[in-house]
Amino acid sequence: MSPNFIGLWLFSLGILTLVHSKTDSKDVAALNVMYTSLNSPKKLKDWEASGGDPCADGWTGIECSGSSVTEINLSGLGLSGSLGYQLSNLASVTNFDVSNNKLSGDIPYQLPPNVNHLDLSNNGFTGTVPYSISLMKSLKDLDLSHNQLNGQLTDMFSSLSNLGLLDLSYNKLSGSLPQSFGSLSSLSSLFLQDNQLNGQINVLAKLKLNELNLANNKFSGWIPNELTKLKKIDIEGNSWSSGQPPPGMTSSGNIKSTHMEKGGMSGIMIAVIIMGILVVIAIVLAILSRTRSSFSSSLFEEHDDQSDRKSLNYFGSNRYTTDPGTDKGFKDHEVKALQSSGPISLKPSLSNRMKSFRNKEPGSNAASQRKVSFEITLYTLAELQTATSNFAMSRLLGEGSIGRVYKAKRPDGKVIVVKKISSSFFQDGKGEKFSDVVSSLSKIYHPNVVELSGHCSEQRHNMLVYDFFRNGSIHGYLHLSDEFSRPLTWNTRVKIALGTAQAVEYLHETCSLVHRSIKSSNILLDMELNPRLTECGLASFYQEAGGNQGGGWFAPECTNAASYTFKSDVYSFGVVMLELLTGRMPFDSTKPKSEQYLVQWALSQLHDIDALDRMVDPSLRGLYPPKSISQFADIVALCVQMEPEFRPPMSEVVQSLLRLVKRPSLSNRGLDDYEY
Ligand SMILES: *[C@@H]1O[C@H](CO)[C@@H](O)[C@H](O)[C@H]1NC(C)=O
Repeated sequence: MSPNFIGLWLFSLGILTLVHSKTDSKDVAALNVMYTSLNSPKKLKDWEASGGDPCADGWTGIECSGSSVTEINLSGLGLSGSLGYQLSNLASVTNFDVSNNKLSGDIPYQLPPNVNHLDLSNNGFTGTVPYSISLMKSLKDLDLSHNQLNGQLTDMFSSLSNLGLLDLSYNKLSGSLPQSFGSLSSLSSLFLQDNQLNGQINVLAKLKLNELNLANNKFSGWIPNELTKLKKIDIEGNSWSSGQPPPGMTSSGNIKSTHMEKGGMSGIMIAVIIMGILVVIAIVLAILSRTRSSFSSSLFEEHDDQSDRKSLNYFGSNRYTTDPGTDKGFKDHEVKALQSSGPISLKPSLSNRMKSFRNKEPGSNAASQRKVSFEITLYTLAELQTATSNFAMSRLLGEGSIGRVYKAKRPDGKVIVVKKISSSFFQDGKGEKFSDVVSSLSKIYHPNVVELSGHCSEQRHNMLVYDFFRNGSIHGYLHLSDEFSRPLTWNTRVKIALGTAQAVEYLHETCSLVHRSIKSSNILLDMELNPRLTECGLASFYQEAGGNQGGGWFAPECTNAASYTFKSDVYSFGVVMLELLTGRMPFDSTKPKSEQYLVQWALSQLHDIDALDRMVDPSLRGLYPPKSISQFADIVALCVQMEPEFRPPMSEVVQSLLRLVKRPSLSNRGLDDYEY
């Protein structure tokens, strides 16, 4: 007996169980839970629901090294049920294969943390791809194909630099490819066929792929030139754009799909065909460009001109642009940032935006530069009348103290939000001039803020235009969800809290603006569930606001407009965090009296670990690290203090949240990342 073994044995004897166990007790516990979750199938010979020695007794499908389980292969055993919730114990497992069974339910958040090969394919798994995958840095092959997975892929791929094969085919995944796909530096095989994915595929351009299957989705746009060199590519059954592709892009018609399953054509034949088509197109274009004297004689200059125009003009057609001459001052990195994100979204990735934002000096220079990158569109009244079907009631999204808000559609198909400010705000020189409002709003720019995208002022109609966010607000996600909607995961909630905190910090410290209306319905979510704070810079319109209004999110000192300070925003932000933590509304008249006001109910319990466990949103179904929850609650407790002067400034809140987010990625001990 090795000293280690004696130690382990004594440990097991003393603390956990009287069973003599050779296999690591954490591994045994995980397999016990897995066995019962699989409905204790007879096929799993020797497996036990409690205790046992998988390594010594040769449990079916288990391989060990020393006392650690290193491989679990239960492929094709006709298993049903689920995988249990303790797989994160299995720190030494490198191969995990439960493919070709009848497993169902969600893929558990807890998975073997250091696994190289993870194969859950050909089962009946539902729900989303768990975000915990993002922490599995050792992952080389990930096969989740042929399941019923739905929802969107979130930004979970940034750290998976070893991933060589990713197969998500034959599911029901929707939404666009997240930017973090671009970080998959080792990826050589990508299978996404037969889902409902949409958007552009520009993010795949820089990957070193050998084979790519995107067939039967809803992808649009063009194919990056880099991908035309692939030997195996199938792009059929999508909504690719036709017409003239921008430089660096090829139209889908030039790609001859290989039917990978059937072997398809040889790579050489495809290359010959593609080259032939490209030559023909080049000749045609060359002839065209000669005949049009107004264009530069160089074919490539013409392309560049057009694409810059398209990319720079964030709002589509030139007709909508206020100042067509502004692209002179464009910095190279900004052009690249814009181009890299492709013609449909036309927005640079968040990190790029953050970078270019951060690089700027504060002051007038920054404001003028930003105006260059993100032009504010001047709409005519007629255009907005058409876009809102003449301000039809059916287009009304809401009505508040400021005015009415409409959903609208531009002729180019882009959906926008039109805020019609009540005329009373601008009567008889009272208050600010509308042009001053637009001017100050145009200076607010942050990746987590919904920025002004356009305006209109005609015949006493004053309107502000914003982008429309299809995902709606976190209020909707947290409080209006039904059985069909997916609850936000814990990691997403933390991400939302951090992004929102950064937006508020920016408003407070860079713009010196109080928000005055921080609440869950003003925090929208983009396609990747990043938060975007809306109603920024509109505080001056909220003159009548204040008082507790039954909303439950105003700080106690806000009895009149003048008493509202930065620290009142901090309080309201704390209420949002509390909503993310508990899933409860700030005020809920359907609850027992003592629980109606969320802050009152929660305040005394935030430091009590056991109480905290009961307070957490039940829709998280226990899928969260307790440590993260208690740190989150500590931040809430600071923000919602009664005395404004005790509340931390927003910059401190951001720092605390950053520490919370960074904690798991800093430690590389594997199991500790999964302390559940
Ligand atoms: C699991 O076992 C099956 C056959 O029983 C085999 O085809 C498969 O490659 C194995 N998986 C791993 C990861 O070794």
